[in-house]
Amino acid sequence: MSRDAIPDPALHATRRQRLLDRLGDGLLLLPTAPETLRNGDVLHEYRPGSDFHFLTGFPEPEAVLVACRTARGRHRSLLFVRPRDKARETWDGRRCGTAGAKRVFGVDAAHPLGELWQELPKLLHGQPRLFFRLGADAAFDRRLLDLFAAQAKKHKKRQPPAHPAIEDPVPAIAALRLAKDRAELDAMRVATAITAAGHRAAMAWARPGLREYEVQAALEAEFRRLGSPRNGYPSIVASGSNACILHYHENDRTLRAGDLLLVDAGAEFAGSTGDITRTFPVSGRFTAAQAAVYTVVLRAQLAGIRACRRGAPSDAPHKACVRALTRGLVELGVLRGDVARLVRKEKYKPWYMHGSSHWLGRDVHDVGAYQDGDDHPEPLPAGAVLTVEPGLYLGRLDRKVPRELRGIGVRIEDDVLVTARGPEVLTAAAPKTIRDVQAACGPGQQSRR
Ligand code: GLY
Ligand code: MN
Ligand code: MN
Repeated sequence: MSRDAIPDPALHATRRQRLLDRLGDGLLLLPTAPETLRNGDVLHEYRPGSDFHFLTGFPEPEAVLVACRTARGRHRSLLFVRPRDKARETWDGRRCGTAGAKRVFGVDAAHPLGELWQELPKLLHGQPRLFFRLGADAAFDRRLLDLFAAQAKKHKKRQPPAHPAIEDPVPAIAALRLAKDRAELDAMRVATAITAAGHRAAMAWARPGLREYEVQAALEAEFRRLGSPRNGYPSIVASGSNACILHYHENDRTLRAGDLLLVDAGAEFAGSTGDITRTFPVSGRFTAAQAAVYTVVLRAQLAGIRACRRGAPSDAPHKACVRALTRGLVELGVLRGDVARLVRKEKYKPWYMHGSSHWLGRDVHDVGAYQDGDDHPEPLPAGAVLTVEPGLYLGRLDRKVPRELRGIGVRIEDDVLVTARGPEVLTAAAPKTIRDVQAACGPGQQSRR
């Protein structure tokens, strides 16, 4: 079975029950992610839709979950899946089929996908609402709207509405995904541990003369070796002033002695991903200028982590990072003046232009609200995981920056679990202090652990 299969019927039934209790009466219709064509008859690597996988653990493409509450306050779930097919399975790989979907994933019934559009009118009968997200798959939307249009055509005057109201279930699913349950947190702990190991491998492997993609290969080999099926996002391996390009992805420059190397990469495990950035010296020792910038970013990052307290506004970590970075820019001679005023006027922005945090989970920029309807920051809930990732990007040609600091880009990123007892850094196994980073750099370092 696919490594994306999570056969845990009780876990997924609990998640579905919690979701349907939030949504109330109506029918949930949730397709997994569509397959996408790369070219000809070749598809991009498949990854199940995050919401669908969260609620079913089912790994295959072309699957649809249908669920609703029963009169007794429980719920009933159906899966529509690809049927067993000897010829297709010879070409494309094994399928669970309807019997396997029911037996292994514990739904009440499973049907061949081809029966969905016949069954749906019956399943919708008497339902006041349809919980469905429009916009993810145009072909699926079209078929659903055609179904409703056909119903409306047959509909006589002075009857109940021809079709149920369509309501978006995604905010309710996002709220469930934001505060991790035990299984989700277990997956995050493994994903972040593998991610940290990959970063240690990168530190051990990097040396002058290698290409950035060779370090990427060492990092990702460690991810795969430890059981991660794929990365959570494309790895950024940026040496020298490439570190000042936030989503750098060419990864093909040759590392030079004296460079810093910024690596931003995350391993996925059981549907969840880590997201770590470390910046380290290719030759094993920070120069004085690099160490000065690194120290400022590290101080800001520690301040951001301290701000990840349960109930604190969701922008508290960013505010803490910005204050510390701005103070640091004054100390480094990049800015001049009163720190509070410089922060108010956003004078740090040329060298720190991104946010400091995002929710983390199944998706690297995970679902969950940051602000309420009045644009006030939401309080940080216990069980949420967010990144803290300040940086400074001092351009190679930036004349506002003291000459010796030009071309230095540093970002430090950890994944932090909000708990009632304070922030817990899930990624603490990735070296971060100057001393620990230097000790981890260079051939042989990893095997000495
Ligand atoms: N690598 C994407 C991020 O850190 O947000
Ligand atoms: Mn991040
Ligand atoms: Mn990152």
